[in-house]
Amino acid sequence: MRSTQVVPIKNQDEIEKMRISGRMAAEVLDMITEHVRPGVTTDELNTLCHDYITNVQQATPAPLNYRGFPKSICTSLNHQVCHGIPGDRVLKKKDIVNIDVTVIKDGYHGDTSRMYYIGEPTVKGRRICEIAYESLLRGIDVVKPGATLGDIGHAIQVYAEGERCSVVQEYCGHGIGRDFHEEPQILHYGKPGQGLVLQPGMVFTIEPMINAGKRHVKLLGDDWTVVTKDRSLSAQWEHTVLVTETGYELFTLSPQSV
Ligand code: MF3
Ligand code: CO
Ligand code: CO
Repeated sequence: MRSTQVVPIKNQDEIEKMRISGRMAAEVLDMITEHVRPGVTTDELNTLCHDYITNVQQATPAPLNYRGFPKSICTSLNHQVCHGIPGDRVLKKKDIVNIDVTVIKDGYHGDTSRMYYIGEPTVKGRRICEIAYESLLRGIDVVKPGATLGDIGHAIQVYAEGERCSVVQEYCGHGIGRDFHEEPQILHYGKPGQGLVLQPGMVFTIEPMINAGKRHVKLLGDDWTVVTKDRSLSAQWEHTVLVTETGYELFTLSPQSV
């Protein structure tokens, strides 16, 4: 028996609100860019984002206290895959870091993340960030009514594996709206034609985590930080995406979004 999946379809009013929360999340990433430099700690980045979201945007940082998460953003460095907790780690040249921002504005979530280089990246660091970005674009490019979730996952997996990288399977994208994580789950691997058929009004994130080595991950003792088992570099980018009548619209665009 198939379990009943309730995939919410957003109405025009909800879509307009999600355009706003999505743009705000991206604008936080724009704001933080100039601060992501050697010598800064991830907790200082957290504080800057928290203060901007609460004071300037008059919005709420969704991660704070979400299932016990202690900070307002996630910062995942080098071999960390996702859900890194900001702390006293000082960023240094050649680090790569993912900053993941989710804001709630007027009851609706916007969720986006980018990779940042600290100083000039290594060849390997630049490569994994570029491959993860292209993986996201390949997934987004598939989105239109009638395509399936398997089509999205397949496009990402074929590209990333073709570059001799691997796709993390334990974490996925997600529907998003009034709730941070709604149906459906968006796997970043899959088979063409399989899974849910996309319909206009669906809103979900695509956020592939791509490893330079093997796909396997482990959870650190803080119960949040996910790292690659083989300690290879990992990278991730994320957009919040609306299925439109003819294709897609990205909610998490901003002046500096690449
Ligand atoms: N922003 C993450 C995502 O893309 C989720 C972070 S959950 C947290 O889904 F609790 F770690 F913040
Ligand atoms: Co997300
Ligand atoms: Co996110």
